Amino acid sequence: MSDALKGELIFHCIELSPKFEQVIIIPLSDIHFGNPMFSHHHLDNAIDLIASKPNHFTLLNGDLAECVVKGSKGDISEQTNKVQAQFEYIRDKFMPIKDRILGVDQGNHEERISEAAQIDLCDMWAKAWGCPYGREEIMIRVRFGGGNSRHPDQPYVFFIHATHGYGGARTKGAKNVKVERQSHQVHADIYLQSHDHDASVQAGVYLMPHARTYTDKSTGRTVGSMLAVDKKLVKTGAFLKRGGYSARKGYDPVSLGLTYIKLIGDHGHPRVRVEM
Ligand SMILES: [Fe+2]
Ligand SMILES: [Fe+2]
Repeated sequence: MSDALKGELIFHCIELSPKFEQVIIIPLSDIHFGNPMFSHHHLDNAIDLIASKPNHFTLLNGDLAECVVKGSKGDISEQTNKVQAQFEYIRDKFMPIKDRILGVDQGNHEERISEAAQIDLCDMWAKAWGCPYGREEIMIRVRFGGGNSRHPDQPYVFFIHATHGYGGARTKGAKNVKVERQSHQVHADIYLQSHDHDASVQAGVYLMPHARTYTDKSTGRTVGSMLAVDKKLVKTGAFLKRGGYSARKGYDPVSLGLTYIKLIGDHGHPRVRVEM
């Protein structure tokens, strides 16, 4: 059993090119392949976009396949493919960009297969693609570039914590508070959460004590300054068009847009931007 499957949170180290000045991460989740409302067109565009530049990457945050099984939630007669075919489609679809996948975790839809049959599809995908896997959550450290703190050989370092998400929510506030809670639990630069099928970005800053100290001239006391550290909270969107379950249950239609996380390391200080 790998360390990531023992349940204790560890971080996976991803070393990217020292030549990169920026790294773009386009996280994907809630593809729900096998659902009749799945949009092939949007997934094809997302994969083409990630493949288009060497500094573009993704992290796969669960619910990649629909995974309706006997006795589970969902209507098995509406499912467009058997779970075996869903597994193979996702595996093959991402194979051309397997080296751009920074990590994988499990959604509640794949969890149905784990619970029913003790088969972890997400672990099997991660093994096929050769990328890190964490079942309930995954933490990665990304390093790239040079020039951090004005040292030419020092890379920029960013931490990303991702987990699929849980429970129900209908309002933006109820959806976003879940990623806000996540951000109180683990120290990271980026928090990724999915499941609510509604992309959003919340920008935050927190104040971290700097390791270095100095003598305050007026009091003679030893003091230190506080650094303002970016803390970005990202909810990823879905690849499901309006209809079927969401219409039946009265959920709002949601944008099928992507979120772009820009890790910037070209001016001596690490910065994070998120765009939709
Ligand atoms: Fe989902
Ligand atoms: Fe989900």
